Amino acid sequence: MNRPALEGLRLNHPAHVKHQRLIDWVADMAMLTEAAEVYWCDGSDAEYQRLCEQLVAAGTMLRLNPELRPDSFLARSDPGDVARVEDRTFICSEHPDDAGPTNNWMAPAEMRELLQTGDQALFRGVMRGRTLYVVPFSMGPLGSHISHIGVELTDSPYVALSMRVMTRMGRAVYDVLGPDGDFVPCMHSVGAPLQPGQKDVAWPCNKTKYIVHYPETREIWSYGSGYGGNALLGKKCFALRIASTMGRDQGWLAEHMLVLGVTDPQGRKFHVAAAFPSACGKTNFSMLVPPEGYAGWKVTTIGDDIAWIKPGADGRLHAINPEAGYFGVAPGTNDHTNPNCMASLRRDVVFTNVALTDDGDVWWEGMTATPPAHLIDWQGQDWTPELARQNPVNGKPRPAAHPNARFTVAATNNPVLDPEWDSTTGVAIDAFIFGGRRSTTVPLVTEARSWSEGVYMAATMGSETTAAAAGQQGVVRRDPFAMLPFMGYNMADYFQHWLDLGARLQAQGARLPSIFCVNWFRKGADGKFVWPGYGENMRVLEWMLGRLQGKAEGAENVFGISPRYEDLRWEGLPFTREQFASVIGIDRTAWQQELALHAELFRQLAYHLPSELPATMARIEQQLAA
Ligand code: OXD
Ligand code: MN
Repeated sequence: MNRPALEGLRLNHPAHVKHQRLIDWVADMAMLTEAAEVYWCDGSDAEYQRLCEQLVAAGTMLRLNPELRPDSFLARSDPGDVARVEDRTFICSEHPDDAGPTNNWMAPAEMRELLQTGDQALFRGVMRGRTLYVVPFSMGPLGSHISHIGVELTDSPYVALSMRVMTRMGRAVYDVLGPDGDFVPCMHSVGAPLQPGQKDVAWPCNKTKYIVHYPETREIWSYGSGYGGNALLGKKCFALRIASTMGRDQGWLAEHMLVLGVTDPQGRKFHVAAAFPSACGKTNFSMLVPPEGYAGWKVTTIGDDIAWIKPGADGRLHAINPEAGYFGVAPGTNDHTNPNCMASLRRDVVFTNVALTDDGDVWWEGMTATPPAHLIDWQGQDWTPELARQNPVNGKPRPAAHPNARFTVAATNNPVLDPEWDSTTGVAIDAFIFGGRRSTTVPLVTEARSWSEGVYMAATMGSETTAAAAGQQGVVRRDPFAMLPFMGYNMADYFQHWLDLGARLQAQGARLPSIFCVNWFRKGADGKFVWPGYGENMRVLEWMLGRLQGKAEGAENVFGISPRYEDLRWEGLPFTREQFASVIGIDRTAWQQELALHAELFRQLAYHLPSELPATMARIEQQLAA
């Protein structure tokens, strides 16, 4: 692009944008990408409606039946762009040790050459024929001292629209930013420039993908994908990978955690933050409906996926949900597993890769016990139960919705949204919960006896993999703190950061949250889950809150404290002592094998590994052998 055209771009920012560094950056990026035009999003309703109409006209989305699903849309992605691409995700710190062995690393200069500065750089001319959308957003309530600002530049109107749902996006962000406030630049392209006259496809993307983070300069560059965490850069890229490095440097935590409020019948309210790997029922837990026998108990949602947690003036850890919407997994969600989520999805939703019913509504596996007789599947093809059986995938009938099909919906649609969800001071956390998906070995619930024992539990979490990321499913992988795909720096340094933060707050006389480890997913000999889960998790939650208040009993084991059968309330649930024994029991042999896997993890993370972790392991080993 020549100079005069660039000057034009420099001038086209709205008058309320006063931030010269931002204006210059947008102009530089427009020049690099050769965008056909620049559009500054204002976050208004009218703009949202316009983007919806535009995406419908382009064939990216279709409007669902307004009688059945008002103001809602279905988008279908390219079949090769359906999940986060962890093998294409890079942490480009100056030194490889700062990314650590759990991340892909490339030297920043080398990556910049590839993306930005080289003659053949992928971003050169990448937005030809497309509009560059400037998307200003706040992660967290506008103006909160816990929040941070980002600006995403994208050539995807679907991304601009989704960012409006997922973040506080729009004009008000510029007021917070002022003339020189800090923001995280987030550069995104689907990687599909258009030649003059070339017709666009419904879901432009590129087979080559790069999801790149520069932790030292706090920048994000994403190329080739339009889907979810690869493209909505406020979520995993900023709120976890970049924010975790900000937290390390500034003394706070950016965590892959839901945050919920629990109010007991006496009106006492507690706040719990819980980390689970992707697609392990986080949304369900954050909207839990207490079961029969729990009249007067209330569970409310502050966040369903990510928490930013900072020490408050009172010395306690205060959490906000940096997001403003839910990008949740649709399959498996129904009126039994998550009625509050189903209620959230009645209107104003963007669905991606679910199936379409003949009357213009959506369907996914698990939504109803019996599928409709005919559907259009997530790839736009006819689907019937018979066709699905005739064309199996991995030995199972072909699903109508992609297993990682998603809904994008504003938090304000949630009927059990916590009144403090948007509080600028956040909520004080009483307990942390860490939960993996393990069919064996890990007990239903264990309380750590100390902060460092809790950090050990979180650091050694393992989980069977799910459809949220591309790749093989059902394999156990270590997923420390449920952060494996989301760590912005060296995992061992992150363990140290947790230990240091705990020690610092303790030294100040602060009350630290209790730490619990849970596993809802143990299976019996018949291969079925033993614990009923969902609303029944309330029984475990009640025990934890009882422990916090010194009211609930438990028994010590080699890892911490777990309830005995009589320590949980069973009213309304036929669950036998034997069943309970099978979800809480500790199998010595299985645990000896498990500890060998912890040792392997510690070998992998040996560089900077805090000595407390192998010391805790040695203690457990001794007790197991005793
Ligand atoms: C998510 C994930 O989308 O963890 O939340 O993959
Ligand atoms: Mn997640």
